[in-house]
Amino acid sequence: MSFQQEVDKRRTFAIISHPDAGKTTITEKVLLFGNALQKAGTVKGKKSGQHAKSDWMEMEKERGISVTTSVMQFPYRECTVNLLDTPGHEDFSEDTYRTLTAVDSCLMVIDAAKGVEARTIKLMDVTRLRDTPIITFMNKLDRDTRDPIDLLDEVEKVLNIKCAPITWPIGMGKEFKGVYHLLRDETYLYKTGLGHTIQDVRVVKGLSNPELDEAIGVYAEEIRDMLELVKGASNEFNHDEFLAGELTPVFFGTAMGNFGVDHMLDGLVEWAPLPQGRETSERKVESSEQKFSGFVFKIQANMDPKHRDRIAFCRIVSGKYEKGMKMHHSRIGKDVRISDAVTFLASDRELLEVAYAGDIIGLHNHGSIQIGDTFTSGEKFRFAGIPNFAPELFKRIRLKDPLKQKQLQKGLIQLAEEGAVQVFRPLQNNDLIVGAVGVLQFDVVVARLKGEYNVDAMYEHINVYTAQWVTSKDPRKLDEFRRKAEANLSLDGGDNLAYIAPTRVNLSLAKERYPDIEFHTTREH
Ligand code: G4P
Repeated sequence: MSFQQEVDKRRTFAIISHPDAGKTTITEKVLLFGNALQKAGTVKGKKSGQHAKSDWMEMEKERGISVTTSVMQFPYRECTVNLLDTPGHEDFSEDTYRTLTAVDSCLMVIDAAKGVEARTIKLMDVTRLRDTPIITFMNKLDRDTRDPIDLLDEVEKVLNIKCAPITWPIGMGKEFKGVYHLLRDETYLYKTGLGHTIQDVRVVKGLSNPELDEAIGVYAEEIRDMLELVKGASNEFNHDEFLAGELTPVFFGTAMGNFGVDHMLDGLVEWAPLPQGRETSERKVESSEQKFSGFVFKIQANMDPKHRDRIAFCRIVSGKYEKGMKMHHSRIGKDVRISDAVTFLASDRELLEVAYAGDIIGLHNHGSIQIGDTFTSGEKFRFAGIPNFAPELFKRIRLKDPLKQKQLQKGLIQLAEEGAVQVFRPLQNNDLIVGAVGVLQFDVVVARLKGEYNVDAMYEHINVYTAQWVTSKDPRKLDEFRRKAEANLSLDGGDNLAYIAPTRVNLSLAKERYPDIEFHTTREH
């Protein structure tokens, strides 16, 4: 297969959803279709005590959640699909956000009984930074759900994206009969109790087919009437609008019953974009370019307790990776030879021979790789658009043993470079303020400070509303601001100036008082 054919068959996506909408369950079913699992039920069983392969820390096991983002690659139809897992629990982190910068499309899973929920809204905001195309799966149709038309309405209004139903449900809950596929003009009939397998689904061709009446009785007439209405009232699928992030194709089904998941996957491989190019400091790099380039969007520690290493997740933007190849590390301006990149097949962590644009590779990191780093085949550019997000939660971190201040600071700055957490050092005192997007990040930091830096730390409450990075086009104004607002200013892990606002009011007053200062909620690496 030619280089271009390899690239063209890549589809790299992540799932966005609110906790409990069914992300884990659908991941499991997707992997089942991808032949990456023999039997559903092995990704994660909160109650059975089995855990996903991506689980890596003890803490994760205790809590039965997936703290980190992992990557799974599997074949589906003629494509090679990369699914980047994003933590879906109440506790999540910036990794979740940044993972969304490394994919070309997203699957949005919605609990059809609940509709659009808070986390989904937040994650959709992040996908908007790059207008990422979104595919929607309305889950849990085997339960009593909300009216499908209402659901589409809500998605359109709350998430500001047009909906094009691709399948339409027939009945719901105990009366869930299956779905009608608007583009294929076929009805797929649902059977309960087969969720752990790939089912032989009965297909009825054509809506007016009497076989449909025979199969689902009065529901046949109902779906015929319903579809008249749906076709009149909803959008037709339009590929360009989908690619622009303006319209989402919508599928209905049940992840638990493994019904409808394959329709969604078919849509994904058919419509989701091929590996997309990325802007750099110099020019746009396209995935069709033969020379290797990629960027690091995540660093993860101690994935395997037997290897006490850190893995940097690198999204290949162009070209291909081959074992033993030389890469140019743009930030430090050095060439490095990479002989042992890893890939993350669902079955195991495997040594990788070759990977193409669109794929994710794991690079062993002994401290020289940071979030946002670019690797090239010698060119000096750096990829743009891998952001830090303004943290939403803050705590002051304190040592139990005050003599270890140096180790604490070193540890925190390294963890900040990794993107595990953000650290702010006020200009006026020696406090260390830890900022996070998800609560769990705080616990991870204390556990890692102990394990990796032998530092016992604890947290204290601190009154912070938000931290925003500050810049100004006029260096004199920035200096003046630095003097006048010193009490609220701090440096982050990378020595960037940030304004720490104790309250929302304080922030807006500061913005009013210093019109020449720009306040930013994200910062690019
Ligand atoms: P998450 O990763 O998005 O947090 O959700 P997860 O897949 O863990 O699903 C949350 C709960 O919803 C689970 O139940 C799961 O079994 C259930 N669920 C997922 N898809 C469907 C579906 O299509 N229909 C129905 N009826 N339920 C579904 P749980 O009781 O919290 O956990 P478990 O003991 O089943 O693992």
